[in-house]
Amino acid sequence: MNPLPLSTLIDFAYLIAIVLFILALRWLSSPATARRGVLAGEIGAALAVVATFANPEVVTYKWILIALLAGAIIGIPLGLVPMTAVPQRTALSHAFGALSAALIGIAEYYVRAPHVTKFGMTEISMEVIIGGLSFTGSLIAAGKLQEILPQRPITYRGQNIVSLSVLGAAVLLALLLIFHPGYTELFPVMVAVSLLFGVMLVTPIGGADMPTVISLLNSYVGLSAALLGFVLNNKVLIVAGALDGSSGFILSVIMCKAMNRSFINVMFGAFGQVQASAETAQETRPVHSATAEDAAAILGAASSVIIAPGYGMAVAQAQHKVRELFDVLTKRGVEVKFAIHPVAGRMPGHMNVLLAEADIPYDKLLDMEAANSEFSQADVALVIGANDVTNPAARTERGSPIYGMPILDVDKARTVMVIKRSLNPGFAGIDNPLYYLDKTLMLFGDAKTFVGDIVHELAGGNAS
Ligand code: TAP
Repeated sequence: MNPLPLSTLIDFAYLIAIVLFILALRWLSSPATARRGVLAGEIGAALAVVATFANPEVVTYKWILIALLAGAIIGIPLGLVPMTAVPQRTALSHAFGALSAALIGIAEYYVRAPHVTKFGMTEISMEVIIGGLSFTGSLIAAGKLQEILPQRPITYRGQNIVSLSVLGAAVLLALLLIFHPGYTELFPVMVAVSLLFGVMLVTPIGGADMPTVISLLNSYVGLSAALLGFVLNNKVLIVAGALDGSSGFILSVIMCKAMNRSFINVMFGAFGQVQASAETAQETRPVHSATAEDAAAILGAASSVIIAPGYGMAVAQAQHKVRELFDVLTKRGVEVKFAIHPVAGRMPGHMNVLLAEADIPYDKLLDMEAANSEFSQADVALVIGANDVTNPAARTERGSPIYGMPILDVDKARTVMVIKRSLNPGFAGIDNPLYYLDKTLMLFGDAKTFVGDIVHELAGGNAS
């Protein structure tokens, strides 16, 4: 029996990689199977890379190995950033993905130019424009999230027209190159214009919209990779790019729904601007504050408690203390559940990851809709480091920048307790009327320390 030709083996490896990518996405959709999903994606990617190495068209491994080494030197420290820096790290990863797609498209152009077919030039120019704008757009997003760049939207009159004209110029240059392949000097201009458009696309968008922007840019990078697959006639790249592009797009839609915002609104709105009135309001209005001892007494006497975690729990790394609180309350017969807002924290699934790290049982996690149907029957809603996602202004104050964003209705519980260090606003930069309600007790302090103190009170039997 003749051995299978190498090309068939490579195609077979690609097929397995594609199946693994699809399974990875399937498994990543639930915290219970997410680790398996990550592993499947990693094995799929490794398989696709190894199969590509075996391609006889690869003439030397020298540059591939140098690039791998450079990638590892940049990638390993990036992989070790703290959980709170993952959004900007993700944006940087997208920037690198987009850069590599754009560079390969550029290299392919110069290999073929000036004898590029109309179809080939259409593929290359679309790929390079999308790759280029995603590269600079992702860099700006990372800069905003890292607060190297101002988080507020940077806008000016007529901005949308100027930005769309720049995009139009890139498309026009692409058309000229498609119909006049000899105009090779226009190609670098097209690349530069697409890079400029990426900057103009993301600069006017506020920091609060960055997660949606990142996942949208992710879908652009996927699209660019899929187009590159067509340019290089590489099937695994086409499918992986399409999966990446569509999953990024679906995630953006989910996030827009969670914030009750349309794409157009995210792209052209000015959400994320800090309201000047927030600080004055918080200085003058009284709040009720309480100690860990008071909080422990209330929690110990409750029969149902819903914990609403947010970004502050991540900053304080309080998840293990929260687990101890869950244990001590459950032992006392208190029913404890967790309300998970889809955009709590700074990245999709942020709270799920932290609570999974602390081994909180998955069946205790309620999504926003389920939680909102239970708050009115809960004795206590305990907010731990969450702010915007619990802000009732989203329901009641028409002028508020977060008006219309679905929130966790913690204010419907009989008693609300909020652990945070001060009355400072959260990510959206706006005051939270929840803190001034009669039923709300402010527990001022670091989330880890405060939860630890409550556990100490409860475990010590001081609270009955
Ligand atoms: P935020 O509204 O940002 O509020 C977090 C609160 O945590 C702050 O008000 C802060 O108050 C408190 N905090 C910080 N460090 C703390 C610590 N060590 N101990 C206790 N409290 C601490 O968070 P959220 O409610 O989770 O809402 C998320 C926001 O981020 C939304 O606006 C969302 O749109 C945006 N966003 C979300 C994502 C995704 S995808 N999840 C990504 C980027 C942005 P003090 O300073 O007073 O302590």
